[in-house]
Amino acid sequence: MPKSTIKGLGFYVPDNIVTNDDLTKIMDTSDEWITERTGIKERRWVNNDKLSTSLMGTYAAEKAISDSGLDKNDIDFIIFSTLSPDYYFPGSGVLLQKKLGIKEVGALDVRNQCSGFIYGLSIADQYIKSGMYKNILVVGSEIHSGGLDKSSRGRSVSVIFGDGAGAAVVSATDSDSCILSTHLHSEGKFAEELAVIKPATTFWIDKIVKNDDDKSYFPYMNGNFVFKNAVVRFEQVIFEALNYSNLKTEDINLLITHQANLRISQYIQKRLKLTDSQVFNNIMKYGNTTAASIPIALTEAYQSNLIKKGDIVVLAAFGSGFTWGSALIKW
Ligand code: ACO
Repeated sequence: MPKSTIKGLGFYVPDNIVTNDDLTKIMDTSDEWITERTGIKERRWVNNDKLSTSLMGTYAAEKAISDSGLDKNDIDFIIFSTLSPDYYFPGSGVLLQKKLGIKEVGALDVRNQCSGFIYGLSIADQYIKSGMYKNILVVGSEIHSGGLDKSSRGRSVSVIFGDGAGAAVVSATDSDSCILSTHLHSEGKFAEELAVIKPATTFWIDKIVKNDDDKSYFPYMNGNFVFKNAVVRFEQVIFEALNYSNLKTEDINLLITHQANLRISQYIQKRLKLTDSQVFNNIMKYGNTTAASIPIALTEAYQSNLIKKGDIVVLAAFGSGFTWGSALIKW
């Protein structure tokens, strides 16, 4: 049976840097509050109308394909994870396909928010193991900035999120350097704890337009509740991946968690008794970029030579749904 490996990585973030001090000019907040609660110092927010979620994904994908040494026409399937698609429909996968100029391969959109990249990676791994495809492009891309409440009312959510895109080429291999396992979970009873509810098929846009006070088209997050669930689920799903391969926390060369909040990552590091060199974080620079955060962090870690051949790399995510998941990779 073929196995799958990450053959190429790339990421793209918009040029426009928004610091915590910049945010103090538009809402009642402070660098001290944001740094202490989230670890974030700055994020990228698109300030150019030409950039879209699919276009940023395309830029990241071009870098990942180039890094893999393959040609774009070697890609035989596309998986695009995002909670901020260009259109209500069609999905962003076909838009990326058009922009990349790839032939008529299948394109799938994944709607699993912060866990979207792990879900996409797991789908790619299964398709490759089944022999159905050989080279799958897995993309996570988000433009949050256009949909955030940037007034003081929305400050507990809007300071956290940033824009960006990351991509991986996942290819068939006979080598032992491969994705060892993936693990996926969800718990729909908490769907509304972190969500954008409207507009929707159950509440169409004309009803919102008629009610100036209805701001439920902005993201809602029950922050404390999300935090408490995230730390539990991250730990469970990391151990699930380690146990599957009879590994221990000391075997981890690098843990990359979805960059939700630096306090969550630090809590997990402490619970698992990991050293600083076993954990990679970059939320300080980019904020929480949801489906893009893991491929952006993985690419940065890889480009900084923090991952060597043979290393055990653990990826883990938790987010809206709730959904969570992990991937254990021998590099
Ligand atoms: N600047 C200044 N003050 C603020 C801000 C802000 N940006 N946001 C909220 N506050 C104030 C509140 O109004 C409140 O004031 P009050 O005490 O006078 O009422 C006070 O700060 C505390 O607010 P809380 O919401 O209770 O703050 P909390 O300590 O819970 O921190 C946070 C909020 C950072 C969102 C936290 O709940 C958290 O980390 N949640 C985890 C969820 C998370 O990380 N989500 C990321 C996206 S989801 C994902 O990817 C998993």
